[in-house]
Amino acid sequence: MSRLAILATLVVLGLSGSDAALADERMVAAKKDFDVHCAPCHGTDGKGRGPFPPGLAKKPADLTEITAKYGGVFPEDRVFETIAGLDLPEGHGSRDMPIWGDVFITESVGKSTKLEDAMKASDDTSRRIVALIRYIETLQAAP
Ligand code: HEC
Repeated sequence: MSRLAILATLVVLGLSGSDAALADERMVAAKKDFDVHCAPCHGTDGKGRGPFPPGLAKKPADLTEITAKYGGVFPEDRVFETIAGLDLPEGHGSRDMPIWGDVFITESVGKSTKLEDAMKASDDTSRRIVALIRYIETLQAAP
């Protein structure tokens, strides 16, 4: 099974377990994650005005307008898929946004080839992405 396939099977778990508000601690970690990995393109305020990189074919999305764009309901499943890279409409490599599911899972699993570690890494990755989604939800512009 590919790492992304393992991740995909855990998407459901990741989302269903997260309905209760995440602890502040996780939100702080998510903000840090966002500032390091996402702000370079999307900006720390999420408005898509990060400093780099000028060569992108597509402008980074304004992440504060997602709820507005989707008719007033924050589409968490869709956002999960976008961040994890499960919705590759244009195929691998053509997206201007890195496939974070792969990036995070690789970071987490390291050099291990054990299934156990892969499972844990994909679990960690799901949680990490869910925390990012909660954080992005807090950035939504008031209607
Ligand atoms: C290298 C630049 C870059 C980085 C870094 C980046 N993104 Fe993006 N992101 C984009 C671009 C460009 C788009 C819009 C075009 C597309 O579909 O590829 C986008 C789109 C999105 C969307 C879809 C928004 C919508 O309106 O549907 C989400 C959600 C998102 N990014 C979240 C993130 C998160 C979370 C991170 C950090 C983990 C991140 N991005 C890091 C470039 C980036």
